[in-house]
Amino acid sequence: MEIDGIPYRTIWVEEPGRSVGIIDQTKLPHRFTTVTLSSMDEAARAISDMLVRGAPLIGATAAYGMAMACNEDASDEGLRRAYDRLYSTRPTAVNLRWALDQMTALLDNRAVEERAALAWARAAEIGDEDVEICKAIGRNGLTLIEEIAAQKPKGEPVNVLTHCNAGWLATVDWGTATAPIYMAYEAGIPIHVWVDETRPRNQGAALTAFELGRHGVDHTLVADNVGGHLMQRGLVDLCIVGTDRTTARGDVCNKIGTYLKALAAKDNEVPFYVALPSTTIDWTVEDGLAEIPIEQRSGRELTRIAGRTETGEVVEVDIAPEGVAARNDAFDVTPARLVSGLITERGVAPATKEGLAGLFER
Ligand code: MRU
Repeated sequence: MEIDGIPYRTIWVEEPGRSVGIIDQTKLPHRFTTVTLSSMDEAARAISDMLVRGAPLIGATAAYGMAMACNEDASDEGLRRAYDRLYSTRPTAVNLRWALDQMTALLDNRAVEERAALAWARAAEIGDEDVEICKAIGRNGLTLIEEIAAQKPKGEPVNVLTHCNAGWLATVDWGTATAPIYMAYEAGIPIHVWVDETRPRNQGAALTAFELGRHGVDHTLVADNVGGHLMQRGLVDLCIVGTDRTTARGDVCNKIGTYLKALAAKDNEVPFYVALPSTTIDWTVEDGLAEIPIEQRSGRELTRIAGRTETGEVVEVDIAPEGVAARNDAFDVTPARLVSGLITERGVAPATKEGLAGLFER
């Protein structure tokens, strides 16, 4: 996608076989800065410190991390250490494990001196595949938006509510939840997006609003608790969110607060869709609530908030009493029964075991 007319991906090769560039997402929306990663440890830190985030981009960065590890120590032992280090960065998005397993399967039983070249090529492929997958999600989701647009008075926008950032910043390009939105926009369908701020890290306010704005898609930022109220008033035509891990039976684990939006959507008969690449499906898990590890983050994300002052300085301030106990669960699970459908690269499936299995043979 474009920023000020310049096409960007979220991760790109800077020096072939050596380093990649990323956008430092912790600095958005106030500063657009890029960072070079040239070691496995830098890649791991970029994931755990959330310079890169979003399930597919975490996977793509981890794949390059393994390629960098091959430059450092391509022995079996070296790669096992790199796998463990990268795997420990964030617990919920299954794309991390998927990408690391892809790299391991490729490198196992290959001569040590061949491994770096193979790994750099596969990491690039994982990035390219993600772009194609997201485009296909966009095409499949576009059909849903077209159907709703056809039922509305001509010229009235389709109102989509989204949570967190499942946009192009969360993937290599296009996004998952945003891909149908961008495609509708390109097709000239009037579209408007309600952007949940997404406390506590504000991925909606900082990232989704940034990328939609830079692309020119009409959107309005709303506080996290507003979605249900908008739905009661008929101001939301459909919800589209992303997922960090989808179980074999169609439960979805996404940014904290997604579940409440799904409950409100059910109560108001608003379609609630989840957009996902197949790399987000964890076929080993059925019951999302019981089996998906939920990342617990620092309470400081709740008690402090960052923002830009009138003089342009970015500062952090306290917003809660000093020493308050704060619990910060980063994700929640939305049971399949609340999901109207799963928008994947192979089509839109019911959120059921049969629905997913019908599209993706194991
Ligand atoms: O904690 P984050 O910012 O990595 O969480 C991201 C999300 O919850 C996204 O919705 C999810 O990864 C899907 S990204 C296409």
